[in-house]
Amino acid sequence: MSAGFDIITIFPEMFSAYLGESILKRAIQKGLLDVKLFNLRDFTVDKHRSVDDCPYGGGSGMVLKIEPIYNALKAIKADGQQRLTLLMSPQGSQYTQKTAELLAHESRRMVFICGRYEGIDERVRESLVDEEFSIGDYVLTGGELAALVIIDSIARLIPGVLGDDDSVKEESFSWGLLDYPHYTRPPEFMGMRVPEVLLSGNHKEIWRSRRREALRKTLLKRPDLLEKACLDREDREILKELCSDRYVTKGREEEDESDTRS
Ligand code: ADE
Repeated sequence: MSAGFDIITIFPEMFSAYLGESILKRAIQKGLLDVKLFNLRDFTVDKHRSVDDCPYGGGSGMVLKIEPIYNALKAIKADGQQRLTLLMSPQGSQYTQKTAELLAHESRRMVFICGRYEGIDERVRESLVDEEFSIGDYVLTGGELAALVIIDSIARLIPGVLGDDDSVKEESFSWGLLDYPHYTRPPEFMGMRVPEVLLSGNHKEIWRSRRREALRKTLLKRPDLLEKACLDREDREILKELCSDRYVTKGREEEDESDTRS
């Protein structure tokens, strides 16, 4: 399994920095990811190499033109390979971990069109794009960061990209929950102790405790996620228990302490 990305942008250097470091750099070297950058200006036809123009009907700001994007896509697709064309925009559908999982299984190369300026000619959306994605309800200065976020989240799901594939399987976001708390040495720092269960070596209990903490965090911070999470009967029972204020608002450690005090 590997993934191929073609990126259309007016700022290709923005990608070189991020893709040239750490995990993604190694994944590219290993051939697990293939990324090609296309500078939109190279596909303009006028002598000023304009990628944008004033909006019809007036108004402030510039609009990305359709012709250079059309030309870039035509050049990219000239090799005859199947491709999925994605537009980065705050008006797109919400990109989530579920989308990342679906795209990680995509056999086609993915083309990312990075919007800029006030907007993009609507005809790009209507005729050149398969999917339009937003990475959140805020407006960035362009789609480059959004494309990097999406590429990063897909890349780490490709087997071999992360050193330890179990870290993907185990992370609670893939169960639809927030992550459980993590600890490392020392076991006590300035009076703050690591929960005893994690030092016990009892893997079954450790797993149950982590699952419970993931449920507790999700209930507290993102209860909306619980509606779509994959929960079994035991989870539902834990949730029922957590729903009493006493458990939700306090961590297990504090709870244990107050029990021993009383
Ligand atoms: N371009 C500008 N803002 C964006 C967002 N939130 N998501 C995707 N692309 C964008």
